[in-house]
Amino acid sequence: MPDTLTKLAYQTFQQGKSYFGLTHKTLSSQVMRVVNPPKEAQVQELDLETLQLFQRRMSDLLECDWQDAEAGVYPKELLFDNPWSDFFQFYPLVCLDLPKIWDRANMKEQQSFDQDIDTAGYPKYYLQNFHHQTNGYLSDLSANLYDLQVEILFNGTADPMRRRILAPLKTGLAGAGDKPKILDVACGTGRTLSMMRDTLPKASLYGVDLSPAYLRKANETLAAKPGVLPQLIQANGESLPFVDNYFDAVVSVFLFHELPAVARQNVINEAHRVVKPGGTLVICDSIQMLDSPEFEVAMKNFPAMFHEPYYRHYVTDDLNQRLAEAGFEHVSNQIHFMSKYWVARKPLAE
Ligand SMILES: C[S@@+](CC[C@H](N)C(=O)[O-])C[C@H]1O[C@@H](n2cnc3c(N)ncnc32)[C@H](O)[C@@H]1O
Repeated sequence: MPDTLTKLAYQTFQQGKSYFGLTHKTLSSQVMRVVNPPKEAQVQELDLETLQLFQRRMSDLLECDWQDAEAGVYPKELLFDNPWSDFFQFYPLVCLDLPKIWDRANMKEQQSFDQDIDTAGYPKYYLQNFHHQTNGYLSDLSANLYDLQVEILFNGTADPMRRRILAPLKTGLAGAGDKPKILDVACGTGRTLSMMRDTLPKASLYGVDLSPAYLRKANETLAAKPGVLPQLIQANGESLPFVDNYFDAVVSVFLFHELPAVARQNVINEAHRVVKPGGTLVICDSIQMLDSPEFEVAMKNFPAMFHEPYYRHYVTDDLNQRLAEAGFEHVSNQIHFMSKYWVARKPLAE
């Protein structure tokens, strides 16, 4: 396909995802107001100026995504990667799960797990119904619905935001040879691992996550596509099951806002321990008050609407300082739409 056509196809595809997300959220909140109205006013409306800025930043993100693909940072096919079979199989379940979500949100039940869910051995901070998800991160249903829920939440931009780690990752790997070892901390259902595999087909990929259900889902989706299977290990990012100086790069996407402050520092310290001298850490997570005060209302609304117990602290937490404390250097930041990126290097000699 000529490039202008491919670009148009990409823009149309993203527009479709955006309208779909908006329509889902509008309809579901209308139904919620009728069948299970929130007991408390949860959110402040965004003003027109903020909405317009939001729209502009989203367009900038998509342009950046297109530019990176066109520059060959990753294959253009990635721009159209979408788990269609999951969409058709699980979208009805996303809708059917909504009444339970509204109930839990209204009753402020935020640490509620079915009896058959084994909650033993997890850190206390993890046993939460993040985003009011049924059984938190600990069921196969949750793992099956997660990607769709996140796509809806971000109006189809979750993958474009994840892909922003790929350019700094490739730059960081410049001297690492053609078979770098890369770890994804909190790999979830494996979307980032899948992108990294398509971008760096010779890399040895590893993923850790605390959720066995999400790891099963990651294994299932990664195995369904060609390529070497990443090694998936159930582990806490605070104590990684790897020897020192093992990886050429460590990445982590959308984890830090779901950790209490101490755990954030522990994960950074562990990333520093397992990455080789000269290796790179790339973190992607939510924007923060520190550098995106224009979205203050959205950042206040987010933990009020979705159960995110550590988000309020996260948005004021200086991760640059934490990275420096762990021993990283050359820390740089980027902002793309609603996400922020930290790129850091472990010094060659310490
Ligand atoms: C918001 S999801 C992000 C998942 C994935 N990285 C993505 O891009 O969608 C947070 C993930 O972090 C995992 N998680 C939370 N705390 C963790 C910890 N201390 N160690 C390892 N994984 C953790 C959860 O199980 C969940 O899969």
